[in-house]
Amino acid sequence: MNYPWKPNRFSPSPPSLMSSLALFLFFISSFQLLSSVSATEFIYNTDFNSSNIQLFGNATIQYSILTITNASERSIGRALYPSKIPTKASNSSLPLPFSTSFIFSLAPFQDLLPGHGFVFLFTPVTGIDGVTSSEMLGLFNRTNNGNSSNHVFGIEFDMFQNEQFGDINDNHVGVDINSLSSVVSHAAGFWDGKDNLEFEDLDLNNGVNYQVWIDYLDSTINVTMARAGQTRPQRPLISESVNLSSVLLDEMYVGFTGATGTLVQTQRILAWSFSNTNFSIGDALVTSKLPSFVPSNGSVLRSKGFIIGVSLGAFFILCCAVVVFVYLSKRKRSKAGEEEIEDWELEYWPHRIGYEDIYAATKGFSDRNVIGIGGNGKVYKGVLQGAEVAVKRIPYERRSECSTDEVEKVLRLGLSCTHPNPAARPAMRQIVKVLEGENMDTSLLDKINSAATSFGYAGSFNNRTYPTMDELFQSHDSSVTLNIAAGR
Ligand SMILES: *[C@@H]1O[C@H](CO)[C@@H](O)[C@H](O)[C@H]1NC(C)=O
Ligand SMILES: *[C@@H]1O[C@H](CO)[C@@H](O)[C@H](O)[C@H]1NC(C)=O
Ligand SMILES: *[C@@H]1O[C@H](CO)[C@@H](O)[C@H](O)[C@H]1NC(C)=O
Ligand SMILES: *[C@@H]1O[C@H](CO)[C@@H](O)[C@H](O)[C@H]1NC(C)=O
Ligand SMILES: *[C@@H]1O[C@H](CO)[C@@H](O)[C@H](O)[C@H]1NC(C)=O
Ligand SMILES: *[C@@H]1O[C@H](CO)[C@@H](O)[C@H](O)[C@H]1NC(C)=O
Ligand SMILES: *[C@@H]1O[C@H](CO)[C@@H](O)[C@H](O)[C@H]1NC(C)=O
Ligand SMILES: *[C@@H]1O[C@H](CO)[C@@H](O)[C@H](O)[C@H]1NC(C)=O
Ligand SMILES: *[C@@H]1O[C@H](CO)[C@@H](O)[C@H](O)[C@H]1NC(C)=O
Ligand SMILES: *[C@@H]1O[C@H](CO)[C@@H](O)[C@H](O)[C@H]1NC(C)=O
Repeated sequence: MNYPWKPNRFSPSPPSLMSSLALFLFFISSFQLLSSVSATEFIYNTDFNSSNIQLFGNATIQYSILTITNASERSIGRALYPSKIPTKASNSSLPLPFSTSFIFSLAPFQDLLPGHGFVFLFTPVTGIDGVTSSEMLGLFNRTNNGNSSNHVFGIEFDMFQNEQFGDINDNHVGVDINSLSSVVSHAAGFWDGKDNLEFEDLDLNNGVNYQVWIDYLDSTINVTMARAGQTRPQRPLISESVNLSSVLLDEMYVGFTGATGTLVQTQRILAWSFSNTNFSIGDALVTSKLPSFVPSNGSVLRSKGFIIGVSLGAFFILCCAVVVFVYLSKRKRSKAGEEEIEDWELEYWPHRIGYEDIYAATKGFSDRNVIGIGGNGKVYKGVLQGAEVAVKRIPYERRSECSTDEVEKVLRLGLSCTHPNPAARPAMRQIVKVLEGENMDTSLLDKINSAATSFGYAGSFNNRTYPTMDELFQSHDSSVTLNIAAGR
């Protein structure tokens, strides 16, 4: 019989003595390392509670599942491990290795466009002071985004393409260092097939439970994702060399932050494990019998892959909704970086419309909402606060084709939609024609002039049938200014 403990296994020979010695020394040194920095390790399997996680903003625990944001608009939630954890070996600037894994679900709501996303993060501070919602993901604000004194390292799961952050699409994973402009990003999904050369996309926002693995060792960060229950893909989605020495402080909080805007979703973390020493800690997550947050059939989900990349610099006119708004390149911004509301807007227009709201009103610039195609852009129909609107979208690359004349024409047209007498407002059909590039017919010109009169700037317009922008402003004693706001 062949017993595993047969004597020759114990007979010492010089090489095995050497390796035992080496192993012994290794244990001593790693013991010293561990004792001096007390490595962190924890495993949560759908057992989040108020003592094992700290909650901020709209983050809640529902049925032992961590819920970062819920159905409300412009919500911010943050959840952190209760205490700071060491992230550097003592007396060293070298960051400690770590391995973490979590299972998340991002569930959309019926008839609402989904967004914006969440971030796994290391941060020096608790709370959500100063962070903003929507595209800032509850991570930064417009002032501190990109500042190296943030000391924030994160992996973002982002469902909105922000041109100002160089986002690659509206369904991506990115590595963020002190900034929402990712150092590296990739479309969400995983590598599979022969030699791991086939890429399969994963839709972040369909409510499905996904498992993520994030490993950091020897200045390399690896991010891998798959459907929960699937075996871990061999090839990481992202594998990138990052130097975190000056990003991470000696001790940091670790956790999740997320935000909604006009785009809304529920962001849930079902399970989470973390270790500085065990790179198989992801195996500790239970992936079976998890609750499902996939919406039932019938909900209107955004068709995937629609290009949104025209946010910056596009300008829109909205009509018959008593609103005009010019959205031009990012020339004028208030100091705080927020959109400025001016008195005249409150007087003549109900409110300013942000890009996100227009995005939502047109169902994400859905092809199904296209009602016209003009010389330099598409015209969409939409519903904004119950009113029917027409939105013209001009691709950023074609912004130079928008002459001042055209902007003026569009503004005047929009203004005529604000006429107090509904009969004096142009018809949607007329608006669309003009937005498509046709000249205004006489009845439309009449309406515009009538609107001009009713707003008190009629008079001598240098023999032309309508005022120029300058004349328009002057007649209002500069209380009217053309709003040129930053695109988002
Ligand atoms: C919270 O969960 C942890 C396990 O992660 C458990 O040890 C602890 O007892 C729980 N606390 C409460 C108050 O339920
Ligand atoms: C969202 O969370 C807030 C508390 O943070 C709560 O007041 C609100 O009712 C929740 N909304 C939904 C739709 O669950
Ligand atoms: C949390 O949710 C409530 C209601 O849903 C909302 O009024 C509030 O602004 C939210 N707070 C944050 C910090 O997001
Ligand atoms: C770390 O540095 C401090 C002072 O700089 C020193 O007293 C201490 O012995 C050092 N610890 C180790 C483990 O090297
Ligand atoms: C941005 O965040 C920083 C740091 O949290 C804070 O000091 C600053 O006041 C915030 N700025 C704005 C405009 O909220
Ligand atoms: C970065 O933030 C620090 C501290 O909040 C501030 O002193 C510094 O001026 C900021 N730098 C830039 C470039 O905004
Ligand atoms: C990261 O991925 C690369 C490429 O697959 C691999 O060689 C490396 O060992 C991985 N590192 C970690 C820390 O997982
Ligand atoms: C990382 O950056 C620090 C300074 O921030 C530098 O001292 C160190 O050599 C860098 N490490 C690598 C591997 O580049
Ligand atoms: C690492 O974690 C996995 C999953 O919990 C566990 O099976 C394994 O025994 C751990 N390894 C060590 C060396 O602790
Ligand atoms: C939803 O409907 C499609 C066909 O329209 C069907 O294939 C699918 O199984 C349905 N899913 C659920 C969860 O009912």
